[in-house]
Amino acid sequence: MPSASVVAPALQGAQQAIEIRPLAGNVGAEVIGLDLNLPISDQDFARIHRAHLDYHVVVFRGLHITPQQQIDFSRRFGVLQIHVLKQFLLANHPEILIVSNIIENGQSIGLGDAGKFWHSDLSYKELPSLGSMLYAQELPAEGGDTLFADMHKAYDGLPEALRKAIDGRKASHSYTARYSETKFEGNWRPTLTPEQLAQVQVVDHPIVRTHPETGRKALFVSEGFTTNIVGLPVDESQQILTELYAHSVRPENIHRHQWQDGDMVFWDNRSLIHLAAGCPSHMRRKLFRTTIQGDAPF
Ligand code: SIN
Repeated sequence: MPSASVVAPALQGAQQAIEIRPLAGNVGAEVIGLDLNLPISDQDFARIHRAHLDYHVVVFRGLHITPQQQIDFSRRFGVLQIHVLKQFLLANHPEILIVSNIIENGQSIGLGDAGKFWHSDLSYKELPSLGSMLYAQELPAEGGDTLFADMHKAYDGLPEALRKAIDGRKASHSYTARYSETKFEGNWRPTLTPEQLAQVQVVDHPIVRTHPETGRKALFVSEGFTTNIVGLPVDESQQILTELYAHSVRPENIHRHQWQDGDMVFWDNRSLIHLAAGCPSHMRRKLFRTTIQGDAPF
């Protein structure tokens, strides 16, 4: 369970008629019938929390909630992290990062390419994210899917030589690793100020982490934020990381989320990496993300 000190107090409510339906392939479950306009009882919260641990991606369907309700629900799971790109935080709700390709008056209204490389949110922090909640506001008619790769499965299926090569090792993570590379047309990334750069210093984390709530081991590297394996020559480090990335995102490891109106997706950054598949740049896509702080990886 999240530690008591970080969890917002629950407003007690009656139990709701929610149904948790696992999706095909062991990653992902839908939660049907949750009304976030009502207080969530401890029993319902415990079921959702359990589903999040078991399936790593929980999809709440058919929501109609305000930014404050998204924030309050997210806070049930822990402290919220404020993204370094202040330009893209929702006005009066800095806990929400706007993920969007929409340009208004020549300016991006959100981070257009938040997920263009596989990554685990905020792995570049000493305390990376426990999980993120992404709530659909405007969806494109084509594309815009989010892909998830199961890093427990990736760890369990590691070839012996690769497992030995990373045994006990750490890797460095940096927000700026691929900051200036753009994949989707029309994206805009602000130059980081010295204050922003100071918030995203390079950190080292174990390459294999243990999930603090389930005890399962998972690979914890990604092409988006991992720069090198600590203590190895550059070439060797790069070769091992390339193999780990390819191994992590084999098709049998992937769950693809195709967004529907009213979806809010809550994933576990300790168990998965994710990628935004992109959509045609003339189609509007906008989502609101809250990011919940996790523990120091071990
Ligand atoms: C993210 O990486 O948080 C955004 C994912 C998406 O836009 O689908």
